Amino acid sequence: MASAIPPDTNSTYNYDVVRQFTLMTLFWGILGMGMGVFIAAQLVWPALNFDLPWITFGRIRPIHTNLVIFAFGGGALFATSFYVVQRTSRVRLISDSLAKFVFWGWQAAIVAMLISYPLGYTTSKEYAEMEWPIALWVTIVWVAYAYLFFGTIARRKVKHIYVGNWFYGAFIVVTAMVHIINHAVVPISLMKSYSVYSGATDAMIQWWYGHSVVGFILSVGFLGMMYYFVPKQAERPIYSYRLSIVHFWAIISLYIWAGPHHLHYTALPDWAQSLGMAMSIILLAPSWGGMINGMMTLSGAWHKLRTDPILRFLVVSLAFYGMSTFEGPMMAIKTVNALSHYTDWTIGHVHAGALGWVAMISIGTLYHMIPKLYGREQMHSVGLINAHFWLATIGTVLYIASMWVNGITQGLMWRAINDDGTLTYSFVEALQASHPGYIVRLLGGATFASGMLLMAYNTWRTIRAGERGVQAPVPAVA
Ligand code: HEM
Ligand code: HEM
Repeated sequence: MASAIPPDTNSTYNYDVVRQFTLMTLFWGILGMGMGVFIAAQLVWPALNFDLPWITFGRIRPIHTNLVIFAFGGGALFATSFYVVQRTSRVRLISDSLAKFVFWGWQAAIVAMLISYPLGYTTSKEYAEMEWPIALWVTIVWVAYAYLFFGTIARRKVKHIYVGNWFYGAFIVVTAMVHIINHAVVPISLMKSYSVYSGATDAMIQWWYGHSVVGFILSVGFLGMMYYFVPKQAERPIYSYRLSIVHFWAIISLYIWAGPHHLHYTALPDWAQSLGMAMSIILLAPSWGGMINGMMTLSGAWHKLRTDPILRFLVVSLAFYGMSTFEGPMMAIKTVNALSHYTDWTIGHVHAGALGWVAMISIGTLYHMIPKLYGREQMHSVGLINAHFWLATIGTVLYIASMWVNGITQGLMWRAINDDGTLTYSFVEALQASHPGYIVRLLGGATFASGMLLMAYNTWRTIRAGERGVQAPVPAVA
């Protein structure tokens, strides 16, 4: 199958769709994180609800989660998977018009979610709030995406399928599977449906889905990104190709079993909870295998971290990935979960993964790709990337540290009992104790989001210079 490698130009590959998804990733990222900052502010000053139903915390929160996961995270995965599959397969996407359909179809789905949630249309299943017509539309777009991705691999001009594509492929297949199964509903009107499952079964299917979103979108998809962009940016081969294969098979066979850790001490049968706990603990091994494979790719190239803020984004994202995949298995232990569940500790864990891993690796990757997509040697300002790196790192640390403190405080206050068996603290007292933490989280979130504005400016200047054909400036900052 091997043949001459075509030159790497825009006319060889379809970069239009990559550019479109890249820009929308930035746009939705800013909006989604902006919404995060807004709801974080509502938790500090509840009056920010303004007594308007459609901007209450309960309606804006799913807008935040859906925008950051599906529009920002999803956009980054679409952009990079299309970029990586073409470059590693040495072939153009199999259909330009289908690529257009996937782009516009996905944006339409996001807009439909944005409109329907504030109006109160929701299935009330977390990360699967979209009502059935939107879910159906998402399925159609996803099938087109799968056809484009796998069709391109089938026409590849190199024998080998690069490991990054294996990860992207698993993300595409498993996301389709869990989306379809969890969205099986009986519609009773255009915007209202009921799940075909009931009771504990419904909860189990939902969290099988929910954890697969974490596992296959927020982890496996982004690991695909890691396997391509870390070696590229470090200009080193991946540390161990053999480890990447073991990592792949281990992670995809384990993730799907961990869902019950979201349902500890519920009506779910005890054996299922224990199975979920055991599988979650085992999951530490492949997660760290992947993290180590990424980190060790830098062996012999660590000095590059001094001068390359893009590489810093990528490496720090791996550090946060390692941290959150250590924390997750610990929280899955039933006795630990008895303290952490329902508290801000979960929120801290989520954002260690979401900001530290998902957002940081996406940002690093986009900084790597944008100049290449717009015919520039590098971003307009390396200094701004560096500033962004520090805003993102400090923002993440403030966010997760405040949520750890809050979470443990809440857990301990809720369970404290007096000698006569009554509760030591009322719920409101625990809430009052959490208030300082909410202020620090708001500060951290706003710091992180402000970095995104720098990125938007830097991107705009890079594109504009690309259009004018100006040569890239020499990096201003080490
Ligand atoms: C080995 C890997 C991981 C394990 C075993 C794990 C385990 C857990 C556990 C036990 C919870 C708390 C469940 C509860 O008490 O309700 C949780 C929540 C969560 N984790 Fe992880 N985690 C892992 C990695 C990650 C990563 C990398 C992310 C990426 C962003 C992530 C995102 C989330 C989210 C979004 C939730 C909240 C779900 C919800 O209640 O809405 N996790 N995880
Ligand atoms: C500027 C950055 C961000 C801020 C200020 C922020 C803020 C928040 C707030 C206040 C909540 C609600 C917490 C609660 O219910 O007590 C939340 C939930 C959530 N956020 Fe963010 N967020 C940000 C970025 C992100 C990103 C980039 C992602 C994903 C890639 C993300 C994923 C989530 C998820 C999955 C939840 C639900 C957690 C759960 O149910 O356990 N967030 N965020």
